[in-house]
Formats: sequence, structure tokens, C-alpha cells
Amino acid sequence: MWDLHTTTDMKLLLLVCLLTWPGITSAEETGFVTVAEGDDAVLPCSLSSKENIQQMIFDWKKDEEKQKQVFYYVKGKYYNYGLTGQDQQFIGRVSHFQDELKFGNASIKIRNTELADNGSYTCIFPEKQNSHITLYVGAAPKPYVKPIHDTNKWSLLLCEVQGVPKPTVEWKDSAGNILPAGEPKVTEHNNRFYVTLQIVVTKADNFTCVATQETIHHQINSTLWIHFPDRTDQNIQNTSTPWIICGVLGVLLLVVVIGAVLCVHLKKNYMTGTFKRNFILLEINLKLLNIGL
Ligand SMILES: *[C@@H]1O[C@H](CO)[C@@H](O)[C@H](O)[C@H]1NC(C)=O
Ligand SMILES: *[C@@H]1O[C@H](CO)[C@@H](O)[C@H](O)[C@H]1NC(C)=O
Ligand SMILES: *[C@@H]1O[C@H](CO)[C@@H](O)[C@H](O)[C@H]1NC(C)=O
Ligand SMILES: *[C@@H]1O[C@H](CO)[C@@H](O)[C@H](O)[C@H]1NC(C)=O
Repeated sequence: MWDLHTTTDMKLLLLVCLLTWPGITSAEETGFVTVAEGDDAVLPCSLSSKENIQQMIFDWKKDEEKQKQVFYYVKGKYYNYGLTGQDQQFIGRVSHFQDELKFGNASIKIRNTELADNGSYTCIFPEKQNSHITLYVGAAPKPYVKPIHDTNKWSLLLCEVQGVPKPTVEWKDSAGNILPAGEPKVTEHNNRFYVTLQIVVTKADNFTCVATQETIHHQINSTLWIHFPDRTDQNIQNTSTPWIICGVLGVLLLVVVIGAVLCVHLKKNYMTGTFKRNFILLEINLKLLNIGL
């Protein structure tokens, strides 16, 4: 078995030499996979003819120069199943997709990725085709965000991001404007970067902390909903309160108008009433006068 492997290795070396020679690099595809440390990574590779590869050979190697043995499949046998020689780094963490072999699919899964897994991988079908894929390990997980100090006028927000390479961190409001914040604090520990960015906000909004790792095509964010429940100016700006105020004002106006109309009406009635009463009194007086006369 080992003999088989080493002779194939020689052939593969020759093949790799041929294929990496300028001008002969045909049937190659390049791509990348980005994962957070500790996540599983699926590295895609398929034979372009889509033919059944159960009785074929395919080989996965890492890093052009070091040629670390990641996964090796020979006609139904593979590392830890009839074949030996896998690099220590990958033992027990790499598997193929058995049910996919009949469709020419030689993709592999690397479980529980480590920073050391970062790098370029080559999937080789001897004398047929090879393809390259870059695995980036260290994508930032969702930022950790929280308000760390509150008053009824302002709130101090914290955003913590971790990853490799160093993420850039920004705070944005709900309109997407980048908000002026202080300098981010960056610490490096065991080759990982830890970035914190604080910001003081004075208005109610949804604030989003965005982490970007441009070189590995990765962006991720977390949002905080900030409001100031004790603030009156805030309440006026809230969506429901203007309608309540409008309603109250409307009712008041109506009451005033109705009151005024009623007053005028009552006054008129009162006036006509007193006038009538006076008129009757006058009549009575006149009658009394007549009697007297
Ligand atoms: C190969 O199999 C993997 C794992 O099931 C899958 O994610 C991938 O899409 C497949 N590729 C193709 C070309 O079907
Ligand atoms: C990850 O691998 C890629 C491709 O080899 C390389 O460009 C990059 O610098 C590596 N990142 C780290 C943190 O080693
Ligand atoms: C903030 O988000 C919450 C929940 O998604 C939503 O109900 C609210 O209307 C948003 N507020 C603003 C000011 O965008
Ligand atoms: C935050 O991430 C979500 C989901 O990925 C995306 O739809 C949204 O546009 C992002 N927001 C910002 C401000 O980057």
C-alpha cells in the first residue's frame, strides 16, 4: 500500500510539475472557502466529466511547497481505511462524501478547522485534472455588541470582534451612515486579533457594528436597538405619540368649538328669554297702569 502510494506520489510530483509549468496549467479552477476558526469547511472538487470515481484515485494536498497529505482516495481505500501517510495535522478530521463519488464529486470536509488549516489546497485526479482552492480560516464570527453605560441623554456602545486577518470595525446608523467613533483598540493574542470599538450615541436608532476582512471577502454585523424611554423629546419623535397628541388636540379643539357654539346659542336664548320676560313685565305694567287709570 505504501509502495503504491509512493509510486503514485512520484507520478503525482511529475504531474504537478507538468501542470504547474507555465502554459500547461489547463482544466484548473480556483476558488476560496472562508470559515470561522472551529467551524467545519467543505472544500469542493468535482471531475468535470461527472463520471463515477469510486474506482478511481484522487488526492488532496495542502500548500504547493510543503505538499502536506490531506486526503488520499484509491479505489475505495483512503486514509485511516486501508491507507496510511496522512499528515498528522489532519488525522481524524477529514472525510469525503461517499454518496457523491458516483457523480464525480471528490469534495472533502475538514472538521473543527484550526488556524493552521489556512492555506491553499490542491485536488488532484492523476492524469486527468487538478484544481486549487484557498481555505481561509479566521473569519470573524458575529460581533459582540452591548450598551456599557446609559444615561437618559446618551449611551456608550461597545463592539468586540475577533479574527484573522485583522478585521476593520465600524459603527453605522440605520440609514447606513458610518458614525464617528474613537480609535479601535487592537490586541493580538496567539495570532488572533481582538478589536474593540466604542461609540457614544445620543439619538434613538438601530446601531449596527460591521466587521470586515476585505482580503478574505468576509463581512458580518450585529445590531443594537437603542432608545431612551425616559426622554420626552424622544417620545415626541416616536411613531405613535404624534397621533395621540394630534387626537388630543383635535378633541380639545372640537370641545372648544362646540362650547363656543353652545355659549353663543345659550346667550342668544338667554337674551331672547329676558327680552320676552321684560316685554311681558312691560305689558303687565301697562295693564296695571290701565287699571289705575
Ligand atoms: C459535492 O458534494 C458536496 C457535499 O455533499 C456538496 O456540498 C457539493 O455541492 C457537491 N458538488 C457538486 C458539484 O455537486
Ligand atoms: C491563509 O492562506 C492564504 C493562501 O495561502 C494566504 O494568502 C494568507 O496569508 C493565509 N492567512 C494567514 C493568516 O496565514
Ligand atoms: C429597530 O429595529 C426594531 C426591530 O427590528 C424595529 O422594530 C424598529 O422599528 C427599528 N427602529 C428604527 C429606529 O429603525
Ligand atoms: C448585516 O448583515 C445582514 C445579513 O448578512 C445584511 O443583510 C445587512 O445588509 C448587513 N448590514 C450592514 C449595515 O452591513
